[in-house]
Formats: sequence, structure tokens, C-alpha cells
Amino acid sequence: MQQTKRILVTGGAGFLGSFLCERLLREKHEVICVDNFFTGRRSNISHLLDNRSFEIIRHDITFPLYVEVDEIYNLACPASPVHYQFDPVQTTKTSVHGAINMLGLAKRVGAKILQASTSEVYGDPEIHPQQESYLGRVNPIGPRSCYDEGKRCAETLFFDYWRQHKLQIKVARIFNTYGPRMRPDDGRVISNFIVQALQNKPITVYGSGQQTRSFCYVDDLIDGLMRLMGTQDEVTGPINLGNPAEFTMLELANLVVELTGSRSATKYLPLPADDPRQRQPDIAVAARELDWTPKVQLRAGLGKTIAYFEDLLSSDRSLAIAAE
Ligand SMILES: NC(=O)c1ccc[n+]([C@@H]2O[C@H](COP(=O)([O-])OP(=O)(O)OC[C@H]3O[C@@H](n4cnc5c(N)ncnc54)[C@H](O)[C@@H]3O)[C@@H](O)[C@H]2O)c1
Repeated sequence: MQQTKRILVTGGAGFLGSFLCERLLREKHEVICVDNFFTGRRSNISHLLDNRSFEIIRHDITFPLYVEVDEIYNLACPASPVHYQFDPVQTTKTSVHGAINMLGLAKRVGAKILQASTSEVYGDPEIHPQQESYLGRVNPIGPRSCYDEGKRCAETLFFDYWRQHKLQIKVARIFNTYGPRMRPDDGRVISNFIVQALQNKPITVYGSGQQTRSFCYVDDLIDGLMRLMGTQDEVTGPINLGNPAEFTMLELANLVVELTGSRSATKYLPLPADDPRQRQPDIAVAARELDWTPKVQLRAGLGKTIAYFEDLLSSDRSLAIAAE
């Protein structure tokens, strides 16, 4: 039988964090969720509060924390451009000071620690799909740099703690992930399209809509994170986690309209200057090291996500969320 562990999830009230807490509890672990509720919401974890193995601490990880745990999943950081650009200095602090504090904690209590890094460490890539060995092309002084460079520096810290202090580290580079509990106001393409379609408003497509993206359903991603945490000590990553199936924005828009039964038309807007033409993970390492490949097809994942947004919009909880 699997051994019960005490596990800290930073950013546990967020989109990915709340699903991770849920899965860890289902596997009979004790979970401590730490969140400052910047983008996270109580409603994401309210159904877990009755579970005696679940604890929640309101805390900003840019400040030190001491708790006795066996494992740490470090997910705290706003992930969508609208949110991470709202207070860019705090975003860098969350990635960098947050990593220092969590690595310091891991060192002190001898915990294994996993970092939720991002495909944004590749910046505006010159190669497709991106492999982990690609070093990236990142602008250090632009409006996205607080996130991209913050996450790059966090990776540096993880590997220096590994080299210098022999910490057990795991670094996951997460590509676009979607699912229920995304915020309707996060400005990401899937939530935008779904909300526009459900409200029968025009679906806004940039450029010709021929640029492609790949999307991973949240359950697959959480499975990948947990598999990575469960690997032998010598597996450190970085490991790409994402779904390589590519779709054009127009294909995505049409699928959302079909699945919602919407009357929305498509509205074409000029392509923003920094819009990448293509973004796609190479997941050969994850397949080899974790025996992991995503299972959920876009159509099925969108169905579940649409059901969530339908419920959210019909009960007007989005207004409640804005006020939380
Ligand atoms: N969702 C994606 O597609 C994606 C892609 C790449 C990387 N990631 C990474 O995965 C992690 C989770 O992303 P998400 O999509 O769930 O985003 P999210 O914004 O829903 O979750 C982030 C959580 O961190 C909390 N948080 C932010 N700053 C904090 C701080 N200083 N102290 C404590 N808590 C803080 C927020 O309140 C929120 O609950 C992030 O680190 C993100 O960079 C996500």
C-alpha cells in the first residue's frame, strides 16, 4: 500500500493547484494548501474543506514559511498575462523570492520539491516543437519578462540547490493547460472563446486565425506532475508537459461554437505584434521518463470546460468571483 505523505501545494487555490490538491487527497495524502488568493479562489477548494486531511494557510510565498512536509509542489504564481502583468514586480518576487523560500524550506525539512515552470522559458522560440535542450529566446526587458525571466531564474535556483545542497528537485515545463476553474477574466484563448460563445457575442480571432496552439486538459497535466514527483532522485527535469496536438485558432473557434450551440459569428482583429505563430511541446522525454502522454482529446476536454462555464455564467457566480 502507498505511504501517506504530508504535501505542501503552493498556489493550491488556483486553477491547477486545486485539482492537484483534490488528486493528492484522493490518494490519501495529507495536503497543506498555501495561497494568498491573488488569482486563486476559495470556491475552487471549498469542497475540500471538510476533509480532515486538508489544511489551508493564507500566506504569500515571498515571505518565509515553516511547515513539516515530505513533498512540496510549488505552483504559486499568476499564470495569465493579464494577471501577471498587473503587478509585475510582485510576479518576479513570487517566482524568485518564492522559489528561494520554498527551496529553503525543502532543504530544512528534507522535502522533495517540484517547480511548476512554463513553456514561456523558451520565449519566442526559433525551433518547433520545443525540446528541453532548447535554451530559449527571451526578452529580458519587456512586459512579459517578469513572468518569463522570473520562471527562468526560479529554474536556476532549483538547479543550484540541487548541485550545491543535493536537494531532490523536479522541474516541469508546463504548456497551455485548460479546464474547469479557469477564470472567465483571464484573457486566455479557451476561456475567451467559451465565454464569448456562451454569451452569443462575436468570437474574436486575431489575424487570419491560422496560427496554431496546443492545449492540454487539466487532468492529464496533473497526472504528469504527480508522475514526475514520483520519479527516482536522478530525474530532475526539466521535462515538458503539454499536449502536442495542434489546432488553428479558427478550428478552435469553430469547435467551441459547435459544442456550445452558439449563434456567435467570428470577428477578425489585427494580429498583435508578439503573437507566436506556433507553440507546441516535444514530449518525448515525458513519454520516456514518466511513461506519460495526454489522454484527453480537445473535444472531450472542451465539453467539460464548457459545462463549467455554463454553470458559472448561468448562476452569475462570475460576479461573485469578481467580488471575492
Ligand atoms: N495553466 C497553464 O496553462 C500554465 C502554463 C504554464 C505554467 N503554469 C504554471 O502553473 C502554476 C499554476 O498556474 P494556474 O494556471 O493554476 O494559475 P492560477 O493563477 O490559477 O494559480 C496560481 C495560484 O497562485 C496563487 N499565488 C500567486 N502569487 C502568490 C504568492 N505570492 N503567494 C501565495 N500564493 C500565490 C494565486 O492566488 C493562485 O491561487 C503557475 O506557477 C503557472 O506559472 C500554468
